[in-house]
Amino acid sequence: VEAEINQLKALIRDVPDFPKPGIVFKDITPLLGTPWAFQKVIDYMGNRYVGSGVEVVVGIESRGFILASALAYKLGAGLAIIRKPGKLPYKTVSASYTLEYGEDSIEIHEDAVRRGTKVVLVDDVLATGGTMSAAIDLVEKLGGDIVGVDFLIELTFLGGREKITSRGYPVFSLIKF
Ligand code: PRP
Ligand code: MG
Repeated sequence: VEAEINQLKALIRDVPDFPKPGIVFKDITPLLGTPWAFQKVIDYMGNRYVGSGVEVVVGIESRGFILASALAYKLGAGLAIIRKPGKLPYKTVSASYTLEYGEDSIEIHEDAVRRGTKVVLVDDVLATGGTMSAAIDLVEKLGGDIVGVDFLIELTFLGGREKITSRGYPVFSLIKF
């Protein structure tokens, strides 16, 4: 398993100075483009939940959608999407979070998650945890029962995990840097 995780890790490309000078971007497109690798990722993430009654997988725009939709299919669950402001057509609830400079917000349809529904939240990268914390705010507002918070990649040196575990939710990440 450890060797397989390292093979997956080798398919993540560092792109220096993207999107800004000084940032090293973790590019997952080589992994997504490798058939066995994409399948492995979804199997690893999904097998942990088989039989646990997950009803809805919530994916976060935009790279979270890629993983969340495949995971929802694997689990036979529904897919709910959290989007950047102004993208969702129906009635929404929103939550804001702080960025390095300024603020951003995300939204979900008010009927995307029913009260008491078992939910897993998914995104590609856990960095500071700001995005996922806001996503948790949204699912909590709708009364969803969060059974897991999953990432493909965790940037451990940024300490985002604590932001989520301190709220009482289990965090899983497949690949750590
Ligand atoms: C990136 C990444 C996560 C988030 C992690 O998304 O895909 O969603 O940042 O950072 P955080 O833990 O510090 O909040 P980004 O906002 O760049 O948007 P994108 O997925 O649409 O590219
Ligand atoms: Mg994102």
